[in-house]
Amino acid sequence: MATKITNDLVFRNLPRRAPESHKGSYGKVLALCGCSKYRGAAALCVCGALRAGAGLVTLAAEESVISAVAQRVMEPVYLPLPDEDGLSLAASKSTVCVAGCGKEATPATAQEMKTALGASSGTVVLDAGGLCSLADDKLFLMGLSGRLIVTPHPGEMARLTGRSVREIEADRGATALSFARESGAVTVLKGHRTLVATPWGELYENGTGNAGLARGGSGDILAGIIAGLAAQGLEPWQAAVCGVYLHGLAADWCARRLSMQGMLPSDILADLCAIFL
Ligand code: APR
Ligand code: MG
Repeated sequence: MATKITNDLVFRNLPRRAPESHKGSYGKVLALCGCSKYRGAAALCVCGALRAGAGLVTLAAEESVISAVAQRVMEPVYLPLPDEDGLSLAASKSTVCVAGCGKEATPATAQEMKTALGASSGTVVLDAGGLCSLADDKLFLMGLSGRLIVTPHPGEMARLTGRSVREIEADRGATALSFARESGAVTVLKGHRTLVATPWGELYENGTGNAGLARGGSGDILAGIIAGLAAQGLEPWQAAVCGVYLHGLAADWCARRLSMQGMLPSDILADLCAIFL
């Protein structure tokens, strides 16, 4: 039986902002996201992390991605790739790495993921092409055990487990729990009623969110929000549980403002801020 994620559970765990704090108090996020085909994914992920409250966000990506993102967002620091040494150094200094949004699942992506995540010691949020590029390297994923959050949609979970989407959707809870137990990763199985499974056998079900989220880009914002929360000191399971709830609640507020038909993933960022008021 899954535990429902409640408002109380989320707001009890949310980070607070102390008057005497500074940017270092809220963590450093390294986003290793985007490619020339999916430039907006990097922007959405970075904005999710910033709007969730992270102190400093660095985007490591190729020049075409950086120039696109820099036209839309003022706050990130940029690390142009390729730069293996620079990437390792930035990863080693980060509180959280969020990796894989807007990446294609190629061997080159897998290598980039290993360089960054191997050099990091903080929480890792692994999504999309970054996650799928490591689907056949379970040993590497297990090496991140205790600090890894994975955020697959059912298609990505199919790639990770070798099962069909139909089988996964038939028993989402068992799938999420067994993947979490075997990989050691807090596992966020996305979709209508997103699930969060922990490696120690807890299962949480989210009731916020709506079909307005069913468009490309919503998942990139979620990965950023989870990373931003983890950067502020939430444990991986707390960041995942709070992140999916707030992402869905922001989408519910957004749908009332702009309609499920018309709302865009980037629109929910304003509602996320309003939730924190
Ligand atoms: N109800 C509630 N939440 C929903 C619903 C729904 N009906 N539909 C989608 N969502 C939420 C999911 O729970 C998840 O948080 O929206 C988000 C969608 O995330 P993804 O499936 O990862 O989508 P995203 O990555 O943004 O899509 C872009 O997907 O297949 C890839 O490469 C492709 O660029 C594309 C990318
Ligand atoms: Mg996605």
